[in-house]
Amino acid sequence: MPFNNLGFVFKHFGSIIYSKPILEDLCLFLHGFTDKESVLDIGAGTGVMSEFAYRCNENLKYVAVDPAEGMLKYALPYLETHIGAAEALPFEDNSFDAVFMGESLHHFEDIDAAFSEVVCVLKDGGRLFIYDFDLGTFLGKSIYMMEKLFGEPANFYEPSALKEILESYGFSVTVMKHGWRYTVSASL
Ligand SMILES: C[S@@+](CC[C@H](N)C(=O)[O-])C[C@H]1O[C@@H](n2cnc3c(N)ncnc32)[C@H](O)[C@@H]1O
Repeated sequence: MPFNNLGFVFKHFGSIIYSKPILEDLCLFLHGFTDKESVLDIGAGTGVMSEFAYRCNENLKYVAVDPAEGMLKYALPYLETHIGAAEALPFEDNSFDAVFMGESLHHFEDIDAAFSEVVCVLKDGGRLFIYDFDLGTFLGKSIYMMEKLFGEPANFYEPSALKEILESYGFSVTVMKHGWRYTVSASL
């Protein structure tokens, strides 16, 4: 997808796809984080998920990474932005207390490389929050087929399958299903 040219669209309409239960899960995930802990938003785009997270906890250090500069340029100033891909994160090991992936996982080229990188940049006991679309639902399947048609990676999962993958990387995983969408809260 030409994300580099879609920054304006995501900045103004990207939040529509986040429903109330998703945002409640996100705030719950952030509950108990102490001041100055650091969060990396991977595939952050214009920073939609970090903006919602900031409303739950404005004392964290928010860092965004995305290959599309045309998306990142719309990020609000409290987001430290970096150009880069999930498969080769431009950060030192043990840098972050948490990682977000807001409807970005299905765009990654190489899921294994991405999760290996996440494990490296997370500190011991670090946490991961994922929001994406459920392949086991009609709408999830439809989006999968549409993205495949456009030559996208379309890494959509049924949440139970994603749970197994994350467990193989050492995460303890809680899945919350919300119709055709789901969230995953995981910790190392
Ligand atoms: C649907 S947008 C979601 C943006 C934002 N997280 C949100 O919730 O609005 C998907 C984002 O994933 C990014 N992306 C695509 N391939 C990526 C990769 N390999 N690594 C990291 N981000 C990637 C795109 O540039 C785009 O900004």
